Amino acid sequence: MLLEAKGLGKRYGTRWVLKDLDLQVAAGDRVALLGPSGCGKSTLLNLMGGLDRGDEGSLTLDGEDLGAVSAKRLARIRRERLGTIFQFFHLLPALTVRENVELPLRMAGRPAREARARAAELLEAVGLIPRAEAWTPELSGGEMQRVAVARALAPRPALLLADEPTGNLDRENGESVLALLARLTELEGAALVLVTHSEAAASICPRRLHLLDGRIQEGARP
Ligand SMILES: Nc1ncnc2c1ncn2[C@@H]1O[C@H](COP(=O)(O)OP(=O)(O)O)[C@@H](O)[C@H]1O
Ligand SMILES: [Mg+2]
Repeated sequence: MLLEAKGLGKRYGTRWVLKDLDLQVAAGDRVALLGPSGCGKSTLLNLMGGLDRGDEGSLTLDGEDLGAVSAKRLARIRRERLGTIFQFFHLLPALTVRENVELPLRMAGRPAREARARAAELLEAVGLIPRAEAWTPELSGGEMQRVAVARALAPRPALLLADEPTGNLDRENGESVLALLARLTELEGAALVLVTHSEAAASICPRRLHLLDGRIQEGARP
């Protein structure tokens, strides 16, 4: 199993936000994670992304417990196996579009020529070759999120995590980003966990999970 949670729990202070949570995501799965604001979606995604650790149970990626590995190992897993996209893009404003996409590869020690070729391939896939040398603050929101998609996929992650990736986009740009996410994760063979509170956004995913009282319910809205 690519990603597996068993009895996963996470608390802030004395309040448990996730409790006894079980979940499996197989390689290449596309899964929507739905639930009302404040139910713990971002908390769960941050655990999956290795940005935070659980307080109970286990969460494994490729069989390795993300809550138990060393910080160094976790950083490597995040670099090589995970890609993340956020609502507010988190691009680096002092770098060009192309440099933003190359960055994760350069940080992983890949040669400049390889990083450049991979960035060109992904910028082509997201329709941004004409904007490759632009500074990211000059882009529209939709363009920024397409850069973020290309950057997240650059290292060929096994799992792409997207936290409300269309939350800051108008409907048209949102739909185009969702279509890209579906098409490119399929093409690249990456699994996708898409956090959203929009049923329309969730429709790009064959699987739906609802987060309710700190646990996962699979399938239609409970
Ligand atoms: N760092 C934190 N410290 C304390 N409480 C937090 C923290 N992050 C989130 N919470 C609380 O945990 C709950 C779940 O938050 P979150 O995972 O952001 O929900 P969602 O993404 O579903 O809107 C909320 O009640 C939120 O206020
Ligand atoms: Mg959230």
